[in-house]
Amino acid sequence: MACAGRGGKIKSIVNNFILKTFANIEPLSQWAAEKIIESSREALLKRGRFLFALNGGGTPRRLFELLGSDFRGQMDWDKIHIFWGDERCVPPDDKESNYGQAREMFLNRVDIPEPNIHRVKAELEPAEAAKDYSQTLKRFASPPLEWPRFDLVLLGMGEDGHTASLFPGSSVDDTEPVLAVTGHYQGRPANRVTLTPRVLNSARTILFMVAGASKAETLSRVLGRERNPKQLPAQRIDPKDGEVIWLTDEAAAGKLSKEIS
Ligand code: 6PG
Repeated sequence: MACAGRGGKIKSIVNNFILKTFANIEPLSQWAAEKIIESSREALLKRGRFLFALNGGGTPRRLFELLGSDFRGQMDWDKIHIFWGDERCVPPDDKESNYGQAREMFLNRVDIPEPNIHRVKAELEPAEAAKDYSQTLKRFASPPLEWPRFDLVLLGMGEDGHTASLFPGSSVDDTEPVLAVTGHYQGRPANRVTLTPRVLNSARTILFMVAGASKAETLSRVLGRERNPKQLPAQRIDPKDGEVIWLTDEAAAGKLSKEIS
């Protein structure tokens, strides 16, 4: 990967797995922004469009700011399609909306055509919203899949090991691409719509961003030897024909075993 050498310290590269640690969220976010630019250029050259799925939560906020400011002139926004890996079931203007956050932090600041923004209609009943979003995905399907092969998916990880809205204890053998789920975490909206691992694992690149000491213990378990995808949903992310890049700050990487780092 061309930008693996820029900033941060590469801790590990095994097959399609890369782990990089940074002093803090600033260089981590800068690196992520550069990776997104690089991936979008490659996708546009090869396929004429860049299919990009976002996440929510606090960790990507600086990255979003960068995409809407320093990096905004480096993306060919006309050819970029924005999706979400998960959404909280609240109206789009609610402060808890993942769409609302991205809209405010960068989508309102760049020249992206409105039809290129494909949000989850989370103001509907959750099951309806999931159905509607599956239809949206079908319009971008990469046959034989019934959903698009995303060029890049951003993911975070909760202190409980959840990712997107795949929560501990939830089913590990989903057959649907999109699900309406319930998950309790830090008082955030519990009703959610999420892509399932079937869709996430078909992506070309998955970029996990994990920061803060409160995630260190869980991160060491998720990346450790013990496999427990039922309780540690982040372990369900394992693209078969793509790369997964874990970007962490030093605090989150603090408990990784020597074997990993
Ligand atoms: C959401 C997410 C979720 C998030 C993690 C980490 O809607 O909440 O997409 O999976 O990435 O909860 O959140 P933080 O970055 O706030 O720790």
